Amino acid sequence: MKRVYNFSPGPCVLPQEVITSLADELPEFDDSGMSLIEMSHRGEHFTAIHEQTIALLRELTAVPDDFHILLLQGGATLQFAMAPMNLAIGDQPGAYITAGTWGNKAFTDAKKLGQAYQAWTGEPSGFTTMPTKGDLQLQPNTRFIHSATNETIHGVRFANFEDFGVPQVLDMSSEYLTRPIPWEHVDVVYGGAQKSLGPAGVCVVFVRDSVVEQAPDLPAYLSYANHVKGNSLANTPPVFSIWAMNKTLTWMKQQGGVAAMERRSVSRAAMLYAAIDQSDGFYSNPVDPTYRSLTNIVFRLPSEELEKAFVAQAAKEDLVNLKGHRSVGGIRASVYNALPDEAVTKLVDFMNNFAARDS
Ligand SMILES: Cc1ncc(COP(=O)(O)O)c(C=O)c1O
Repeated sequence: MKRVYNFSPGPCVLPQEVITSLADELPEFDDSGMSLIEMSHRGEHFTAIHEQTIALLRELTAVPDDFHILLLQGGATLQFAMAPMNLAIGDQPGAYITAGTWGNKAFTDAKKLGQAYQAWTGEPSGFTTMPTKGDLQLQPNTRFIHSATNETIHGVRFANFEDFGVPQVLDMSSEYLTRPIPWEHVDVVYGGAQKSLGPAGVCVVFVRDSVVEQAPDLPAYLSYANHVKGNSLANTPPVFSIWAMNKTLTWMKQQGGVAAMERRSVSRAAMLYAAIDQSDGFYSNPVDPTYRSLTNIVFRLPSEELEKAFVAQAAKEDLVNLKGHRSVGGIRASVYNALPDEAVTKLVDFMNNFAARDS
């Protein structure tokens, strides 16, 4: 079976072991005479997988006891609406940091639901930097501050997490379990699984108990309290996605957990940025070096023709899915947890050879 080096921004590469194990176990689960995806989500087999998945998340993230873990559908996109709905208390506004496309989308949805304002935007810089506390324009009585901690399209991320003096809501989709979650600063953390945790179909939400206790009464699926009460089984869960996530989390634990994922991500991003910075301007990255993403490394070449040639020639060497997002162009290498180190060394070699040939 052929395996390419897959730099897709998501859905993306999963560990080979996970794919193989899913394929092996898919036809029949544990001598039951049926596949796990054909069983009741309330039966003993799926219940065990579900409980173990939540336990693995608890262990890997070292989440404090006053947080609930929810496995939901609707992706991170549903959380753009669900988080502000559940956090709405009276007329306290939500503050939004819009450092790229995803922060913007969250802000757009929040404005439709109630009081939301932009506390800072990266737009004047072309979304190439992140704010510090002093940059934020906070209104009195702000309920929460929302941000996408790593902007997947613009390749910019918070280098450190700061105490903003107001509880934070973090979309960590594109660096989930690639760095520790700053529990002391947050009330809600969410992200779709399809970058670092498994296939698409499940969104992992961490929510502080005090939020659940104060949340307004909402329609069933939109209510964190309803999902807490039902242990994420209030309706039929995405069983396949949870099963595959269970296997990916098990793999992650065997690799050394979040600390190991973070170490690898730091060193792999450093290799790619070194290739960019040492190319005499052939490759360029627009992001303020302090805030460069470790998981989505974006860069430009001197012309769009060269970028097209780069993507096409890389694909011939099995380095695939390197085209930048259609809204910004250029090249983007997404380097998530399951990408083998070899993919990065191959890409760096390819970049050096391409620049030597075409500059
Ligand atoms: C940072 C970020 N937030 C939200 C989303 C949207 O996630 P979903 O497709 O799970 O709704 C994405 C998708 O790429 C993302 O990168």
